[in-house]
Amino acid sequence: MSQSARASELVSQMTLEEKASLCSGHNFWYTKGVERLGLPKVMMTDGPHGLRKQEGSADHIGIAVSVPATCFPTASATACSFDRELLAEIGRAMGEECQQENVAVILGPGVNIKRSPLCGRNFEYFSEDPLLSGELAAAMIDGIQEMGVGTSLKHYTANDQETRRMTINTIVDMRALREIYLKPFEIAVKKSAPWTVMCSYNLINGTYASDNKWLMTDVLREEWGFSGLVVTDWGAMNDRVKAVLAGLDLEMPGGPGSAANDAKIVAAVRDGRLKEYDVHKLAVRVTEMILNFQSNHKEGFSYDKEKHHSIARKAAAESCVLLKNDENVLPLKKGAKLAVIGDMAKSPRYQGAGSSRINPSKMDNAFDELAKLGFSAEYAEGYKGLKADDALIAEAVRIAKDAETALIFAGLPAEYESEGFDRKTLEMPESHTKLIQEVAKANPNTVVVLQLGSPVLTGWASDVKGLLVSYLGGQAGGGGVADVLTGEVCPGGKLAESWPSALEDTPAYHYFPGGSKTVEYRESIFIGYRYYDTAEKPVAWAFGQGLSYTSFEYGELQINNDEVSFTLKNTGTTAGAEIVQIYLAKPDSKIFRPKKWLAAFEKIKLSSGESKTVKIKIDKEAFQYYNTAKNNWRTEGGDYTVYVSASAIDTRLTGQTSTQGDGDESLLSGQSELGYNNVSDNKFSESDFSALYGKPLPPQERLPGEAYTVNSTLGDIKHTPIGARILQEAAKKASESLGLGGEDVKRMVDAMLMDMPLRALGMMGGGAMPPNFAELVISTLNGSKLSRTISTIKFALAMARFKKGQNN
Ligand code: BGC
Repeated sequence: MSQSARASELVSQMTLEEKASLCSGHNFWYTKGVERLGLPKVMMTDGPHGLRKQEGSADHIGIAVSVPATCFPTASATACSFDRELLAEIGRAMGEECQQENVAVILGPGVNIKRSPLCGRNFEYFSEDPLLSGELAAAMIDGIQEMGVGTSLKHYTANDQETRRMTINTIVDMRALREIYLKPFEIAVKKSAPWTVMCSYNLINGTYASDNKWLMTDVLREEWGFSGLVVTDWGAMNDRVKAVLAGLDLEMPGGPGSAANDAKIVAAVRDGRLKEYDVHKLAVRVTEMILNFQSNHKEGFSYDKEKHHSIARKAAAESCVLLKNDENVLPLKKGAKLAVIGDMAKSPRYQGAGSSRINPSKMDNAFDELAKLGFSAEYAEGYKGLKADDALIAEAVRIAKDAETALIFAGLPAEYESEGFDRKTLEMPESHTKLIQEVAKANPNTVVVLQLGSPVLTGWASDVKGLLVSYLGGQAGGGGVADVLTGEVCPGGKLAESWPSALEDTPAYHYFPGGSKTVEYRESIFIGYRYYDTAEKPVAWAFGQGLSYTSFEYGELQINNDEVSFTLKNTGTTAGAEIVQIYLAKPDSKIFRPKKWLAAFEKIKLSSGESKTVKIKIDKEAFQYYNTAKNNWRTEGGDYTVYVSASAIDTRLTGQTSTQGDGDESLLSGQSELGYNNVSDNKFSESDFSALYGKPLPPQERLPGEAYTVNSTLGDIKHTPIGARILQEAAKKASESLGLGGEDVKRMVDAMLMDMPLRALGMMGGGAMPPNFAELVISTLNGSKLSRTISTIKFALAMARFKKGQNN
């Protein structure tokens, strides 16, 4: 009998109440079970670049401690490897750690698109390109699930900013939604069948993800064939009854709020708004996930910590991107006098803040690892805090003057990037940039190693000879970087996102992070290199760019329909890997398109002097566009240019192919008038966008006098006496129960509180709030004089309970 048939049989034996109870968690991390039927509670926990399992007090923002686990490089780093096998290997290791820790599902990978480099959570995501994101996520899912552990592909969907992430309404046209934002989910779901998908917090074109039947059922299940479970992001449930109809199976976390929602499900069945079968289907999917855990779990399994650390080191090295290497300043010469500068050389920034924060099982730093490889150096701290410290810089300059090579470790401090808030600038702190400038003046052989989760401005790069980007390299990042600097590993990573020359140049610059209610994705499909290429806007460092200690020659291109074949030769003196990118273009297209788009990629390893015929197939999907008149994928017939490239700005071979089309693009004829056909800058008019969107655009801001709802945020009500009190108590409570740590965590919690909708307050209250607290607050804020007085009294009582932390 199949697992789903077994699940269905079990669920048939359940009462309506039991079925409904399965639709929400038992507590923060566990599902419920049904003891009398032998169905246990199982654990689902973060993700996505390692296991964050909390045994004691729980939170979803990475503050309370978790059991030690391997912190692998973050997705922003591993994406630069373009290496499916590497992602699968990391996945298998994470799967083993979940097996040891009895975890059923690990919450990741995340495939939200890097719409703006400012998104605070970009370090957890792969790329600005949907194909690369989807392919790498699929590989990671395969690796994890091969070990009998489930994954949760997140955050579904168009959740590409942290500002107001729980309530923002993403307004995105259907082509961009399909071709850019849904695409990585589609690829990963179809290729790798994750056990679960996690819905995002936000609204998509006016409907909360959790209530969105079109997304959760029509697209995900019916079109893509997903048969797993959909879980909410922690606290993303909007309307439980609508969500049942949408096909949203499991609400997390569990607690009084979600128990009240279980009761709403039962009531809705009793009064006919839901059919019992609607609930049956959800309970079957939860049950199937529990059965999957039971049948795959290896009791008593233990993983090899050292082995996982070395996988993390290999991954970190393979993910480094060498952007500049004038006069072969790298690899470092053995025996050369070296100055290592910058606190990050000894105290690396290796992961980001928030729910993905791992408690690392071990910790490397580059300074020690360099020494272990025989490269001892003098050290200077270089900076402390954000403001330049002249004394520390003077000391760094002194040791740099004395050395043959000066290595500076710099980047973004923790408080710059986090879940919960977005960056405001692409600048690095003054303490880092000034240090680089002064050391570069003192030593002509200066190399900068950057540790950060997303791009920064690198105006200083012309003053230095070497630039190596390690992103956030995980617990073995220090070793990985040392391997690359010393030539133990030949760098082969390439950028998975464009690094702009100025914030003002970025495609979403004028439309990020939107207003208090909506964010308009006005740039449509022109994101990342798709925009820079089309608008002919130069960038500092391009998508797909990265150097090696060796060199590659491309030749003998042959294209046979969808198969691209060419020779690749390693013409240098060391073994290395080249990431080859195939782009397609259709200059005579009848519809608007980016100048070119990534159609396939492959990482090819070659020893020195070796030559190989490389064959790469272009999937038929790469030729397709989403036809909004037909509501389906279509192929435009005719000739396509094929670029075989070393980066988005470095084409090595050019050829042509052609394909049979279906002629449906004429249905989009009205769109040929829009500015999207002639993109020259990042301003996209309201009327063009509205025409593309197909409807008038909803107001971006809260209207004056607009009634408060359970989705109003604490920020929206903070100017009211009640709002101010709740905010004050919630902040106090957060710092008491979470024991706030560094500046990054403080900023994250402050931002999250401001952006928290009233309906999600229950999650904060740890059970101390009555389930109808949000309703009480809004009736107090909106109500007539009499009802305001009554509600104010009730509110005062509820608040007193919240303060004391009492249940009921
Ligand atoms: C994050 C998710 C995470 C969940 C559980 C949420 O705040 O958005 O990515 O998996 O918390 O920690």
